[in-house]
This record gives sequence, structure tokens and C-alpha cells, in this order.
Amino acid sequence: MSERPTLIPGCRRILHGGDYNPDQWLGTPEILDEDFRLMELAGCNAFSVGIFAWTSYEREEGRYDFGWLDRLLDRMARAGHRVMLATPSGAKPAWLSQKYPEVRRVDRHGRREPHAGRHNHCWSSPIYREKVAEIDTRLAERYHAHPALGLWHVSNEYSGECYCDLCLASFHRWLEARYGSIEALNEAWWTSFWSHTFTDFEQIDPRDRSIDALGLDHRRFNTDQVLDFLRWEVAAIRRHSRDVPCTTNLMGTFAPIDYSRLVSAVDLVADDQYPGYSPDDPMLERTVRRVSFKSDLHRCFKPERPWLLLESCPDAPQWKHPVRLKRPGLHQAEMLQALGHGAEGTCYFQWRKGRGGGEKLHGAVVDHVGHEHTRVFRDVAALGACLNKLEPIIGSEARARVALVFDWEARWAFEASEGVKSTRQEYEEVCIDHYSAFARQAVSVDVIDSGRDLSGYALVVLPQLFLLRPGVAARIARFVEQGGVAVATYYTGYVDPSNRCFTGGFPGDGLMDVFGIWNEETDWLTDGVARRVAVTEDGLRRGLEPSYEAQGVCAVVHPRGARPLAVYAEDFFRGTPALTEHRLGRGRAFYQATALGGEFLRAFYAQLVDELSVPRALGGELPPGVAVQRRARGEREFLFLQNFSGAAQRLTLPGAYADLLSGDALGQALELPAWGSTVIASRGGS
Ligand code: GAL
Repeated sequence: MSERPTLIPGCRRILHGGDYNPDQWLGTPEILDEDFRLMELAGCNAFSVGIFAWTSYEREEGRYDFGWLDRLLDRMARAGHRVMLATPSGAKPAWLSQKYPEVRRVDRHGRREPHAGRHNHCWSSPIYREKVAEIDTRLAERYHAHPALGLWHVSNEYSGECYCDLCLASFHRWLEARYGSIEALNEAWWTSFWSHTFTDFEQIDPRDRSIDALGLDHRRFNTDQVLDFLRWEVAAIRRHSRDVPCTTNLMGTFAPIDYSRLVSAVDLVADDQYPGYSPDDPMLERTVRRVSFKSDLHRCFKPERPWLLLESCPDAPQWKHPVRLKRPGLHQAEMLQALGHGAEGTCYFQWRKGRGGGEKLHGAVVDHVGHEHTRVFRDVAALGACLNKLEPIIGSEARARVALVFDWEARWAFEASEGVKSTRQEYEEVCIDHYSAFARQAVSVDVIDSGRDLSGYALVVLPQLFLLRPGVAARIARFVEQGGVAVATYYTGYVDPSNRCFTGGFPGDGLMDVFGIWNEETDWLTDGVARRVAVTEDGLRRGLEPSYEAQGVCAVVHPRGARPLAVYAEDFFRGTPALTEHRLGRGRAFYQATALGGEFLRAFYAQLVDELSVPRALGGELPPGVAVQRRARGEREFLFLQNFSGAAQRLTLPGAYADLLSGDALGQALELPAWGSTVIASRGGS
């Protein structure tokens, strides 16, 4: 069995630590001494350093001083800790903004931003690039062989757009490279609409949202700009540091940047999460699934290696309203959820609360009181001890036979298209609706973009895959013909990559033949209004209830080879199919013409999961708020169990397990207290 890579090469530990800002405490060395004592007590072993420390290295242009960092890294090495050394490009020094105004971003209204905040540099400025490359190169040159160096933490949460002349010119060049000629662009963008035919690339203003394709291309361009900037930083590091992995911290499903492309520039995936599991949140069950969804997305960006939870909060972030404290037990549950979904490190923002600045009241491992006798510190230290016991999970992986397609381009096209975007069938939310139905059955799901290979999956779910990239429809067709099961919904296959509607009927690009239906039109129901749907004999045989309520949108569909499993029971489209099944080759394709709710989705997918013998980590349906993930290495299986439901829950185990945390052999059932969590391992196997 070939070994899976660890996050830090050669380091077989679960990373535990966080953003550490000693540069804010250089005047009080006793605090730094205390930090090292506390790190030991907290069972922490990995720290992100220097994220916003540029001015501390280069107080004046070209005069560098890395004294404090030299001392810190040496000390980290002596303590056996690993450092995720940041490049400081996320916040620029004031002298840089003052001397070179071009590094400051220009907003949508053409105003140059003042020197303020962070994450707001121009993506194109040659001066900013040069300065960033210089500081990154110096860091790499100086520390590439340092024994404490574990990873490169490139910048911080890249985001934002700049509308300066340089970025504008860069957009025009990008368009020229994409389309070759202005005629080809006009054709692709359907610019005769509202007399938008362009005769020169320079006439194109990215703020014009009346051309759907323009907005879509500007998003692609923005992703490319960020990707290019990330590559620029990685290249500066790589000039001196070839073997230390690079990562950058992502923000879940952040809409503006196509993360499925951004991750191509880094060696491993790192994410920041702040779910705010609040005990009285009526959407708690949703929050649990939302976190799992985005974690599976991150796991699938680079399935061949673990990902890293680089930021989370050991307590409560100051920016959540209301600021609810983490309930006892919750911290461990949240961290085990990440590990269950393939992470091998759980780190925090932040190690110690600063005394000033906008984040002085943000939760941290070390509070202003300064000692270890706080509830939060104890929780973190308890987790540190628990992670040591979990080292057997290192190298195990999650395996899924179900894939759900979550595609940034489809999302952007949907959100740029008037007439669908306001239906409240928000792209991500609909994806989470479908994902949740599997999560409630403890079925592992790969969340992938539409460019991925589908062979190998038993079931592929395509919620609202509005835009079809070239080749995607053909790949879906092949998947079904060769025995796969595909499930699509209303608003699938409307537009091509230029956000131009397919002609000849929806779902387009050949998908009408795959699903055996024509989706003629779609009614958008008023909030609170529902339409009854009656399940047919065929549908009842699939374990569905006799009737459901359609909410949101009702697509009016005509079968073209598909059989109805449910039909609308009211309105002018009464009798037309609400749910269909089509046999094609050796497989089947289902079309959901409307949203029938969580109960329907669970019943519908439970039946498919059984039919296709897709494994469940636990038998039966999980109670709301309970999450289970499965990882395995060879024959050895690990189940990660979390109870976010706020009440004790009893789970029936499918075999012989031992609790990895307590070491106890377990019987047939396991009681998880409110906010309780644990990891259990199959007995036997190595
Ligand atoms: C993150 C950011 C951190 C810190 C944190 C607060 O988005 O990367 O630097 O600001 O939020 O929750």
C-alpha cells in the first residue's frame, strides 16, 4: 500500500496550532516566553507566522531586518514546533502605499482607495509585484532550510477586484487572448443586444452587467488575476525553496474566486472556517451540513492528499452577531468534523488575543488574562491531547461512490442571469439541499466540479448545473450509457460557457436525450405558495410517499422517453411530470422538475443508495444535527461521530469498534452526549 503524503513531508502528526503574531509583542519578551510555555500545555505543534508582519521586516524601503523572525524560528525548532511561514502580501506597509499610490486598489467608481485595512492591493501593479517578490524571495532565501519551516503560507485569503487602468488594460488583453478578435467576442457575447457591439476591446467596461457573458468573463478574469498573483508569489518562493509545500488559505465556497482553479497553484489545500455553531440557531442542522459540504469540496480539490483547516476559532469570533460562546464539547466536535472530512490539521485564528486593533476581542487560545486557567484554553489543550490519540488516522482517506457537481462557472452564470437568479433557488443552497440528504444517511459524497472524470462513481448528482462547459454533457451521457445513475434538476443545461442559451430545448447540449424530457418552461411560485405533487405507481415502488409539496419553482416538463415518477396535481400544468426516470444504455437518468423538500430528497436518495449498494458509514438515517464521516486505510476503518443536535443521541454501530479516544471496546450502540464527539476504529486490521 503506497503511503499518502502528510501535510508536512516527514511529519506524521496531526497539525494543531494557529496564527501566531509575535511581531505584535516584540516589546514584551516575557509574553513570548510565556507563549512557549503555553504552547506546550495546549498540545500545539504548528504555527502560522508573519502573515501581516511586512512592516516589521522592512520598516523602510529596502532596509530589511529579520532579527525577531530568526530568533523565533530557532526557538520554534528547539521546541519541536513547525512553522507555516507566511508571505506578508495580504497587508502592505503604509510607506509603500504612500510612495507608490498605484499599489492601492481602485474601486468600482474609479476612486483610488486610501491606505486602510488589508487584502486590498492592486493585482496588476508592477511595483507591488516587484516588492512582493522581493520580500518573498528574501524570506525563502533565508529560511528555506530552517528546521522549523514546515509549509509556506502564501498571503492570506486572497480576494477582491481592482478597477484601475492597469487592471482594465489587463482585462482587455485577457479578452483578446480568449477570443482572438473583437468579432468573435461580439458573437460569443451576443452583443447586438442593446447596441453593445464593440469595435475595439478598449471599449469594454467590466462594470457593465447588461451583457451576461461580460460579467461571467470578468469573474473568470478575476480568478485568473488572483491565480497569476499566487503563481507569482509561489515562483518567488520556489527560487530558493523547492521542497517545502506551498498553500494559501481559502474561504469555504467564496463566490468570487473559482477555487477549483486556484488550487492548481499550490501543493495542498487549506481552508478557514467560522461556522458559529450556536445552540439556539434554528438552522443548526443546516450549518452542520453546510460545513460538511464545503469540507468535502476542499477534500476533493486534491483528493490524493489531506487538507488543512488553517483557521478556525477556539471560541467566538468578534464579528459574529450575536457572539455566542462555544458550548462545552463543541470545539472538539467541530475539529473532528474537519478531520472526518479528510483534514489532518486543525489550527486557529488566533493563538493570543492582541491588545488593540479590530480583532482584539476575537476568540483566541490565550485570553487577555494571559494564563492557561480559562475554559477555552482547557478545551484547546484537551483537543491537543485528543489529537495525539488520533494519530492512527493519518494516511487514511474518505472514499465516495456518490459525486455531487458544484461548479463555480455554473454558479456564476446562474447568478448573472436575470429571471433565474432571483428565484431564491440559490445555486449553493440547492447543492447543499441535495448533499444534506446523503449526509443524513452517513453516505460519503465527493463534491467535484464539472470538469472531473465521472467514471468510478455509481451516482452523480447535478443540481442546477445551469452552464455546461464543452464536453460535460457528453461525459454525463457516457457515464449513464455505461451504467451510471445521474440525477439532474430544473435549471440544468440552460447556457453555454458564454452564458448564451442553448437552442433546441432544455436541458441543452444533448442532455434532453439523456434525461428523456424537454423542460419547456418554469413557473416561479410566490413565497409560501406550494403545488401538490402526486407520486405515480412507479414512484411508490421507489419508496416515495404518495404526495409531496412543490415549492420554489415548478418546471413544466414533457417526457420524451422518460417515465413520470410523480406528477403535479394542481395548476395548469396538472398531470405533467414533476419527477422522471429515463433508461439509457446500461444506466438511468432522473430529472427533478421541482423542489420537493428535504424529506423527499432523503427518501429518493435512500432508495438509490440501497439499489446501488452505496455504503453507509452507519445504518439508517441520522438524527438532525448528527454528523458521521468515514475514513479508511486498507481494511482499517475510522468513523468520526459528532453530535451537534443539542441533546444526547444513541447511535447503533454496524460492527466491532473501539473508541480511539478512550481506548474502550464498544458494544452495539454508542451514546453521544449533547455536543459530544469521538472517533471509533474498526477492531482488527492494522
Ligand atoms: C480570517 C482572516 C484572519 C482573521 C480572521 C478573523 O478571515 O484570515 O486574519 O481576520 O478571519 O475571524
